[in-house]
Amino acid sequence: MSVWTPDSWQKKQVLQQPNYPDQEHLQKVLGQLSSLPPLVTSWEIENLKKQLAEASRGEKFVLQGGDCSESFSECDSNTIANKLKILLQMSLVLVHGSKKRVIRMGRMAGQYAKPRSSDMESRDGISLPSYRGDMINGMEFTEEARIPNPDLLLRGYERSALTLNFVRSLIDGGFADLHHPEYWNLDFVGHSPLAQEYQQMADSIGESLRYMETIVGVPAGIINRVDFFACHEGLHLHYEQAQTRKVPRRSGYYNLSTHFPWIGDRTRQIDGAHIEFFRGLANPIGIKVGPSIAPEELVDLLKVLNSDNEPGHVTLIHRFGSKKIADHLPNLVEAVNNAGLEALWVCDPMHGNTESTASGYKTRNFDNILDELEKAFEIHTEMGGHLAGVHFELTGDDVTECTGGARGLSEKDLEAAYRSQVDPRLNYEQSLEMAMRIAQRMTKMNK
Ligand code: PEP
Ligand code: CO
Repeated sequence: MSVWTPDSWQKKQVLQQPNYPDQEHLQKVLGQLSSLPPLVTSWEIENLKKQLAEASRGEKFVLQGGDCSESFSECDSNTIANKLKILLQMSLVLVHGSKKRVIRMGRMAGQYAKPRSSDMESRDGISLPSYRGDMINGMEFTEEARIPNPDLLLRGYERSALTLNFVRSLIDGGFADLHHPEYWNLDFVGHSPLAQEYQQMADSIGESLRYMETIVGVPAGIINRVDFFACHEGLHLHYEQAQTRKVPRRSGYYNLSTHFPWIGDRTRQIDGAHIEFFRGLANPIGIKVGPSIAPEELVDLLKVLNSDNEPGHVTLIHRFGSKKIADHLPNLVEAVNNAGLEALWVCDPMHGNTESTASGYKTRNFDNILDELEKAFEIHTEMGGHLAGVHFELTGDDVTECTGGARGLSEKDLEAAYRSQVDPRLNYEQSLEMAMRIAQRMTKMNK
């Protein structure tokens, strides 16, 4: 195989990149980005990789979640704190159900670039570049907003730094109400036939936390400083390259824009630029795997991306949809096992379950999401392995983007607070309820 360098991807075909009319401007910005400080460090990255290796052995469980696409306008105190809070609450619920430590990763602090099905968007006879995420262009349908602007890469980098800074401080200080499930907003529980079970679970989590604090004398020590990681789709390769560096006293190159970058389902061509770029990274990485992948293709990808067969290095994030998972997943698991390749399997039950309502909303239904997860647990167990984690699009706010859940949100309800510019997210209550359902499932599996 040819020699890898941080820019060797530039010799390959690259998909899903913006067309910048002013290349000189782009180069200037990239120069700045490559000299700005990193957002994360190599020892945090190595710590995550070690923990992911533990998850691949079934000793830990992964929770990944956050917006489909972060927006610059929502880089604010409440949105960030609410998102962190729901992820931490979900992780406590999952710890309770799985009796395992949970690795928490937020789709945060850098999830600003999106793949699109078409380069251009037309409205009333006018054709403009498609919106590709806040780091690339603006959502508004005007020429000024839609022409990709390299300065937005700097704004994205800065907002990622602001977000990480706030997240790190919040975790350091601890959230008082996190340690007290009696303060969680559990109003939705009463609307569910499972109300009693949910309440018992929250009570029992509260008891365990109080036990730790008062008897053992450690302040809910499951939450420690670096035990929250950032992840995003490593889509915009110039941006990712600018933050990819060698660090003192370690071999290899680290992408220091995030702990865990992943390759999207649309950019995982074996001879493409994204695979070339990712194969040289020391970070733990993800590959989104959808219905179009063939088992032998996945095996080839793993061999290229993880040539040392290092545990914890590659996470396969499968996203088939509740109706398709049973047709696709078993063959992939079998092929990877037969080839003796290391990988951990995480289920994204969101991207294969997207549907459109008659009135034009993109939505996902709680039961379909849960159904894909249930099947994922079952298939992995039947095949002698285990599901190592879950990946959600969610928010800590009270939006109405996905249908179902204890309150039974209907298609009609979506218009009340539909805020996503891209994919629909589980709201606060739906996310917590989802975690409780998974926890119940894991408790039963442990018996
Ligand atoms: C996403 O995670 O938002 C996404 C685009 O997913 P996928 O690559 O699985 O389609
Ligand atoms: Co999405």
